[in-house]
Amino acid sequence: MSISKTIRSVEDVKLEGKKVFIRLDLNVPISGEGAARKIDDDTRIQEALPTIKYCLEKGAKLILCSHLGRPDGKRNKKYSLELVGQKLAELLGVEVLLSDDSVGDGVHQMIHHSKEHQVILLENIRFHEEEEKNDPDFSRELSHLADIYITDAFGTAHRKHASTYGVPSVMTEKACGFLIQKELKFLNKLIESPNHPYVLVAGGSKVTDKLKALENMLNFVDRLVIGGAMAYAFLAAQGKTIGKSKCEEEGIAAAGMILKKAESHKVEVFLPIDHVVVEPESDPDFSNPKVVKEISANQAALDIGPQTVALFSEKIREAKTIFWNGPMGFFEKEKFSAGTLAIAREISAIDGIKVAGGGDTLSAVHSFSLESRFDLLSTGGGASLKYLEGRGLPGIDILKGK
Ligand code: 3PG
Repeated sequence: MSISKTIRSVEDVKLEGKKVFIRLDLNVPISGEGAARKIDDDTRIQEALPTIKYCLEKGAKLILCSHLGRPDGKRNKKYSLELVGQKLAELLGVEVLLSDDSVGDGVHQMIHHSKEHQVILLENIRFHEEEEKNDPDFSRELSHLADIYITDAFGTAHRKHASTYGVPSVMTEKACGFLIQKELKFLNKLIESPNHPYVLVAGGSKVTDKLKALENMLNFVDRLVIGGAMAYAFLAAQGKTIGKSKCEEEGIAAAGMILKKAESHKVEVFLPIDHVVVEPESDPDFSNPKVVKEISANQAALDIGPQTVALFSEKIREAKTIFWNGPMGFFEKEKFSAGTLAIAREISAIDGIKVAGGGDTLSAVHSFSLESRFDLLSTGGGASLKYLEGRGLPGIDILKGK
């Protein structure tokens, strides 16, 4: 069934015997080195399965495509999709062939000779610098790999890249998968009729990326609660000392603009009032964290402090709609996870709609076993924030029929 009058679902397309290019977002958190490398959270892989399985059952030949991290157009083993391919093979019970090349004779040969119950996974598409440039020749070459284009890469649908935008713009047979349909169904409810107070809880480290989306969200929300690395751009914009805390220089001016806009839109903004800090130079293993109100020049904040937890909790408790994007600190390390855990618990307990979005946020929700208490766990961080502005996403809009 179509998800709208103009966008087709994978179920509307005849797949039997066809070569199908599926753009997925398999950008999962991976830790460790060499043989110890492991996937820390496989939600995005799990969520990709229904569409892949459906296409396999319908007898299509699959060419899967994703990015992993930000390798900046260069081959780098650290960002290989090898582990992702192994996980897919295990979950699907099929052989997954990892193709080093995304374009050229090698991959065409691999597709041609692949057998039933073999799936091809293209190596990280961002190893090609043409991907992020949305290079038209590269898009055309990729489009020659298949007869049909399917996207289920919700987490990357806000990117106008070759595999998310260029390829579908030159292919006529195109549709979206089940994950995108599930995400949109729920996020549309948030756009159309959010209950108030509507609180946006933001954190995490992709600060400059998210600031624009955050600024636009000021048109819809009543309250902004900001923690994690993002908070330090805001505190720096207020002239506070942030020491060695993670903070992108370009984020500070943008944060200042958001604070001004929030004031004029009468959106309340809450920032950390105390911090769990370490002294990275004298204590590189972070073994002596302490709580401070003011961050000194040699300190770096890695979590929000207990007074901040109390303040944020109070503001969250009153909400009727919450969108949460980004952890409150370095939650992967237990000694810096208290802030994120407390805020996650508080959000999950509100009497209202609660949505969490983004790779790290989902990872936090899973590590605290709070999944069942959220109405939606969106696989898109930046993408869901952008979609909530109500102006669509390029990677989805490009599927619209002409
Ligand atoms: C994400 O993790 O938000 C998506 O996979 C998009 O990744 P990007 O921000 O590197 O484009």
